[in-house]
Amino acid sequence: MSKPAIEMHYTPPTSDTIQTKPFPIRGERSNYVNKPHVIAMVGLPARGKTYISKKLCRYLNWIGINTKVFNLGEYRRHATTAYQCHEFFRPDNIKAMAIRTQCAIDALNDVCQWLENGDGEVAVFDATNSTIERRRMIHDIVVRKMGFKLFFVESVCNDPEIVEQNIMEVKVSSPDYTDMNKEAVLADFMMRIEHYQEKYNPLDESCEVDLSFMKIYNTGEKVLVHKHEGHIQSRIVYYLMNIHIVPRTIYLTRHGESIMNLEGRIGGNSALSSRGHEYSNALAQFIAQQDIQGLRVWTSWLQRTIQTATGVQAPQERWKALNEIDAGICEEMTYEEIAEKYPTDFAARDQNKFSYRYPRGESYEDLVARLEPVIMELERQGNVLVVTHQAVLRCLLAYFLDKSSDELPYLSVPLHTIMKLTPVAYGCKVEHIRLPIDAVDTHRPKPKVHGYLEERFRNRAQKLLT
Ligand code: SIN
Repeated sequence: MSKPAIEMHYTPPTSDTIQTKPFPIRGERSNYVNKPHVIAMVGLPARGKTYISKKLCRYLNWIGINTKVFNLGEYRRHATTAYQCHEFFRPDNIKAMAIRTQCAIDALNDVCQWLENGDGEVAVFDATNSTIERRRMIHDIVVRKMGFKLFFVESVCNDPEIVEQNIMEVKVSSPDYTDMNKEAVLADFMMRIEHYQEKYNPLDESCEVDLSFMKIYNTGEKVLVHKHEGHIQSRIVYYLMNIHIVPRTIYLTRHGESIMNLEGRIGGNSALSSRGHEYSNALAQFIAQQDIQGLRVWTSWLQRTIQTATGVQAPQERWKALNEIDAGICEEMTYEEIAEKYPTDFAARDQNKFSYRYPRGESYEDLVARLEPVIMELERQGNVLVVTHQAVLRCLLAYFLDKSSDELPYLSVPLHTIMKLTPVAYGCKVEHIRLPIDAVDTHRPKPKVHGYLEERFRNRAQKLLT
């Protein structure tokens, strides 16, 4: 018996029929914190507390958790110009001690107000907080009075070389030491540390049983975690376990110009154009000239990045997470075709490019989430060359250069340009090295009118065919 024929009424999906998350005007980030958190640093001076605070703040903001650092040294400098030398920090300097305590209370009040007003989700209190008494005061205000969560992060460092290096790198340019030579700064700062040492109580699980904290020994040699609570604290622990301070360089580049770049088409998996191949050769030559120790090369799974890195003499790894943003139903289309076929989507993307998700594809916010393991692994690595795509590089650059989610989708990432990132005191320095091979410009700046398409993006594919 033959089966009855099944009649199929198949209508291809359109932007109206596809079920997709509506694009918010002002995006809600998917990472959020149920209860406001205070992360309070602990440790003697020159133990990298400010470095950790700023870096952690940059990371949390990048994953969508609104975070701000409150630095006690700045409050003290604002409150008094009394700092003449290390004597200010003697524990028996009653007058100075009263100023210091008041500054700590003022800073904590600002922390609590900022969180209470709903301006942010995580506040990092960057101070020594080196006595049990001070930590009890913080606990009373933050947990008992305000009902917020509190997590202490202590940096313990008993390697004199690291301490001295820290003083020479960051303390010599501190506003406390204008017009002082490096040797005098070092001597004064060492005395300051001695004054703190007299009263220093490291965090200890047998004395401060109820506190949630982590201790990082010698910039990550060992880590101890005590009573951490919940998702955000786990993420902080995981992140801080992965960072290191060994000097290294990260090189970022897009693939060479591709056939689809020439046609003005987005996405896809096309090969390089002839100029793209020239860039690939020039990149290999440039990297060879740099003679980079232990270099590793990461590409996406798409052929244009693999072709670009082909001549680079170093171990290579392919990361699917480095693939270009998935443009869903708009893959392989020109901007003009998208504007014509999906005008509502096209204009909506201009309205909030970070949150807008291509139907059946991804948003920049999705991309940041996809790239988190890449960032974590980059933090663990030494010298790396990453060959990837425009949208991906915008996300990576936003992390390293501390750019907001509004700025991120418009960061300029031209073809045939290497971005060299070098860690400096509390951040990253970026150099743009343009190799002399022409390429199309794929950057579409934010238009004044949503959905407006500049002349240079119109009819690109047709022009190439004629
Ligand atoms: C400072 O005044 O520079 C820092 C105060 C502290 O955190 O103890």
